[in-house]
Amino acid sequence: MSQPVSLQRRLGIGLTLGVAALWLVATTLTVFIVQHTIDRTLDSSLEETAQRILSLAVVEIFNRESSDLLQQVASLRPHEEYITYLVRGANGIPLLISHDVDLSVFPETPQMGLRSTATHRLYGTSAVSDTFFIEVAEPLTYRHRATREMLAMLLLPLAVLVPLSLAGIWWLVRHSLGGLLAYRQALEERDAGDLSPVEAPRLPAELVPVAVAVDQLLARLRRVLEAERSFTANSAHELRTPLAAALAQVQRLRREAPPGPLQDRAWRIEASLRELSRLSEKLMQLAKAESGGLLVETPQDVLPVVIHVVDDFRRSYDTRLELSLPKEKQIVSSIDPDALAILLRNLIENALKHGREDRPVEVAVSSEGVLRVINAGPVVPAEDLVRLTDRFTRANSRADGSGLGLAIAQAIATGSGATLTLISPATGRGDGFEASLWLPP
Ligand SMILES: Nc1ncnc2c1ncn2[C@@H]1O[C@H](COP(=O)(O)OP(=O)(O)OP(=O)(O)O)[C@@H](O)[C@H]1O
Ligand SMILES: [Mg+2]
Repeated sequence: MSQPVSLQRRLGIGLTLGVAALWLVATTLTVFIVQHTIDRTLDSSLEETAQRILSLAVVEIFNRESSDLLQQVASLRPHEEYITYLVRGANGIPLLISHDVDLSVFPETPQMGLRSTATHRLYGTSAVSDTFFIEVAEPLTYRHRATREMLAMLLLPLAVLVPLSLAGIWWLVRHSLGGLLAYRQALEERDAGDLSPVEAPRLPAELVPVAVAVDQLLARLRRVLEAERSFTANSAHELRTPLAAALAQVQRLRREAPPGPLQDRAWRIEASLRELSRLSEKLMQLAKAESGGLLVETPQDVLPVVIHVVDDFRRSYDTRLELSLPKEKQIVSSIDPDALAILLRNLIENALKHGREDRPVEVAVSSEGVLRVINAGPVVPAEDLVRLTDRFTRANSRADGSGLGLAIAQAIATGSGATLTLISPATGRGDGFEASLWLPP
């Protein structure tokens, strides 16, 4: 999947490009219109100049003694000549020229009207029944320079406008999306088990329905999960008393029955009832594990819990449990001590039940806060290993069980922010099973 582009980036780049494009279009149009107007105005003054000069020139030429002599008009004060002119007689002989004129600019024979060459704008007209001709020339460089300067003046703001609008839009979008970013952060920060409504104080109006829908969905999910948990917990709890009563009756029956098939049958019923009572106990543990609230507000030392659980097991499996504790006096964690005890009980019970009976079970707590339960025994295949934390899932074990122990352990680990990993063979060994729990700090 391609990386999603942020709204801020999309709007920033899109709007800036849009503004720049509109500015360019406006600039082109302005240059076009202004150039057209300048051309018209300058052409008109070129015509006017030509006609004024020609009428003065005709009078001057008539007043000369020899009327077909070329005269160059002297300049009154030194200056750069924008407009140069050439007055010719009927036979095309030059009679009067401006002081700075370049004759190569003009054609061989006089031509009437406005026109352009590669370098000049020219205008020609005549007087006294086509006996005197004037042509005026204006270099195009001035008009070109004016266009260039206008273009530069119009494009200059763009250099400021682009970064400025990019920064402005960036800031504006970031400011407007503040509520959305806060909402995203609120969603990111909560853990998977938190189904409470998400706080969305400054969300834009368009997104409020989305937040409402998310909250409704969470509420529905919460109700369903709570119903499921309370059903599990209640039914397990309700089963306890009748099961204990039935077990007591069966035990009495077995004792009172004469040796033989009746006693055997009573034995089998008692074993089934015991199994059923274990199952209801596990279901209650699972309901607790999944109910949330597996963290305590003030972190506590976990070592007393570990020692207590191990001591509990030692009473029945005396020599098989080996406990090693870190040099540190205490390992502090925010995991709920009751939940930790349930988790550890399940791991140790598994190690004793599914591991090799003639080999010890190691329970170790490291100074980094990692709790390990290691036992010897056949290797559990990797494809089984990944499924073991599912409910009612078991691998190839001859020991009886319901397949809930590791599901309970996993639910407690997830709910408390701990990490449970199962490894087989155990680290540094060729066989066995290792369950490691990284405690939340
Ligand atoms: N320490 C272990 N050594 C070897 N196999 C194990 C160990 N722990 C778990 N397993 C395997 O994982 C399976 C699932 O364990 P889990 O604790 O979930 O169920 P269970 O022990 O069979 O039943 P329950 O715990 O509900 O009484 C076990 O049946 C067993 O095959
Ligand atoms: Mg188990």
